This record gives sequence, C-alpha cells and structure tokens, in this order.
Amino acid sequence: MGVDFVPRRAFLSAMSDQGVILVTGGAGYIGSHTVRMLAEEEGRQVVVLDNLVFGHREALVSEGVTLVEADMADAAAVGGIFDRYRVDGVVHFAAFCYVGESVGDPLKYYRNNTAAPLTVLEAMREHGCDKFIFSSTCATYGEPQEIPMSESHRQQPINPYGESKLMLEKILSDCEAAYGIRSVRLRYFNASGCSPDGAIGEDHDPETHLIPNVLRAARGDTGPMTVFGTDYPTPDGTCIRDYIHVQDLARAHVKALGYLEAGGRTTACNLGTGKGASVREIIDAAEAVTGLPVPVEYGERREGDPPELVADASWAEELLGWKAEITDIRTIIETAWAWMDGERKGRYSA
Ligand code: UFG
Repeated sequence: MGVDFVPRRAFLSAMSDQGVILVTGGAGYIGSHTVRMLAEEEGRQVVVLDNLVFGHREALVSEGVTLVEADMADAAAVGGIFDRYRVDGVVHFAAFCYVGESVGDPLKYYRNNTAAPLTVLEAMREHGCDKFIFSSTCATYGEPQEIPMSESHRQQPINPYGESKLMLEKILSDCEAAYGIRSVRLRYFNASGCSPDGAIGEDHDPETHLIPNVLRAARGDTGPMTVFGTDYPTPDGTCIRDYIHVQDLARAHVKALGYLEAGGRTTACNLGTGKGASVREIIDAAEAVTGLPVPVEYGERREGDPPELVADASWAEELLGWKAEITDIRTIIETAWAWMDGERKGRYSA
C-alpha cells in the first residue's frame, strides 16, 4: 500500500468538526471531477482510495487531497483510513465499467463491483459512518419499457455489469434496515464531457465511449470510427442516448451528500438531461465543434445496445434540487474537445 498525504492539512482536518469524505475510485473519470468539486468548491477534506489500475494520480489536481493507493477489497488499507480519519461519508465510484467485458468475464465484475465494496461497508458499520453515495447506472434497468425512464422502471439488467451494480443497490437497502447506513444510488445515463478548463478529463484505456472515439477519429489519432448499427427504430437509424455532463454528475454527488447529511433516507435518483442525441447527431456536433471531418465507417449493431435510453430525472430535481445545467450537446462536446486538444492531449501520461 502506498500512501501520499499532506500531513498538516490532514491533521487540521482530523482536529476540525467536519470529518473527511472518502472517495473510492476518486482518481477515475467521474470520481476525479467530484473530488475536485468537493475539495475546491465545497472546501471538504477528501481522502481518495484508488488502486490506480484505471485511475490516474495526475487527475487529483486539488491541493490537500490525500491519495491512499490501495484496493477497496484490502481490509487493512480500508480499516487504516477509518482508524486514521473520522470519515463522515463515502462516495463510491470504484468499479469496472465495460459492459462487453462483463459478459465474457462476469466473475471479475461481481468480485470488483459487488463483493469488494462490502469491505468499505463493513468498515463503515464498524466506525459508525452512515452515509454512502453510490455510482450506479441506467444499465440496472435493462431493456427500456418506456422513454423517458423513471426510477420506478423495472430493474432487469441484460448484462453482468448492470447486474453487479443492481446487486449492490439491493445490498445498500439491506444496510439501511440493518445498520442505519443510508445511501443515494445515483443512476447515471451517459457520462460525457470534461472539466471546462480542460485540466482533467476522460482517459480510459481501452476507450469504448462514443464521444472520445469520435473526437479521436476527428483528430486523426485512430482510423475511422465505427457507427454500431444504422437500422434502429430511431429517426436516423442510430442509437439515442442521454449525454449528461461530468460536471453535472459531480454536482449531483455533492447534493446527494448534503441530502444525507440533512438526515435523508435511502433513495435512488436518475441523472440525465432528459434529452436524447443520436450517434449521427453526436458526429455532426463534433464536426461543428472541431471544424474537422469525422471519418466514419458503418458496422453491425453492438450486442446489448438498446435503441434509446433517456432519463426522467425529475426525482433528482424534486429531492436534491439538482438539474442538469449543461444540456446542449455541442457544449458538452466542446468541453471534451478542450481536454483532448489541450496541454495533455486527452491523456494523463504519454
Ligand atoms: N457507439 C458507436 N461507436 C463507438 C462507440 C459507441 O456507434 O465507437 C455507439 C454505441 O453503440 C451506443 C452509443 O454510441 O449506441 C453510446 O455508446 P457508449 O459506449 O458511449 O455508451 P453506452 O451507452 O454503451 O454505455 C454507457 C456507459 C456504461 C453503461 C451504459 C448503460 O458507458 O457504463 O451506458 O447502458 F453501462
């Protein structure tokens, strides 16, 4: 286990009334944006637990954030954090997120996404920490029965990734009943975009997501990008998704934490804009933003892709006072492009 910390800040925090917020997977894409918001805008003391398998040390740009480089299944490392700090709440991102991979290797997903977080929940129970924000997904719903999808939509995942997240959602319900650990299960639609100043962003390896793939093709980093399917029952034949900006997602975590701190009970909230964009529309918007043509080839449908996923996020607005602010797809792509065209060229390491 490696531990990096700023001793004075950590000491001061331990002495202050407010405890720390533990962010698992805080060096990843959505986690790093949330850590930055918690630290820089909310003035919270943040401890990140990340094994850096997919996360990036360089994504932790805020002063005073502590990184504990360890796996969340490592009970000694997790226990050490709870012994050292007074942990007020946990924001849990750490997970594997490749739907296709989960079909080929489900045990990897159940072990990491369902079983490993139990170590964190056990430490919470032992130390009396009762607030947990969970990075869940619209993949817990499975095939859409209606559009837009509300939280009461049937949850019947069609892949182990969605199932691994749904299982943890259920475990969290039991944890409230048994131990009083309250949670907000945040069901993201399609996370997209990057920090507007281009300082941090999306750097997955491998990259499977549409917007970065479109922008990489535009920049000439890759060959033509493949459009997976043009025969869907949508106006232009390509899949429709609800692209929600990562900054809006980060803000939802802050609001959800505030809700639990005010005594809120366990709940689930969809996070989306309520607006869909097709693959074709994303490509057109990317060409407009970059001024570059996007080389495209047309391929077969990708297995497991529903034609349309759009959120009804009205519960998050009612309960948390949260609403997506960046709803224009061009603006979302502009922020992704700022990161890809900026100093780091969309990569934390060369
Ligand atoms: N797509 C392409 N070409 C690409 C990449 C994607 O045509 O190179 C299409 C996909 O087929 C899909 C759309 O673009 O129709 C969006 O695909 P993404 O891979 O960007 O996102 P997904 O909707 O597949 O996945 C997202 C999250 C998952 C989550 C899932 C829930 O990334 O973690 O939503 O359905 F599980």
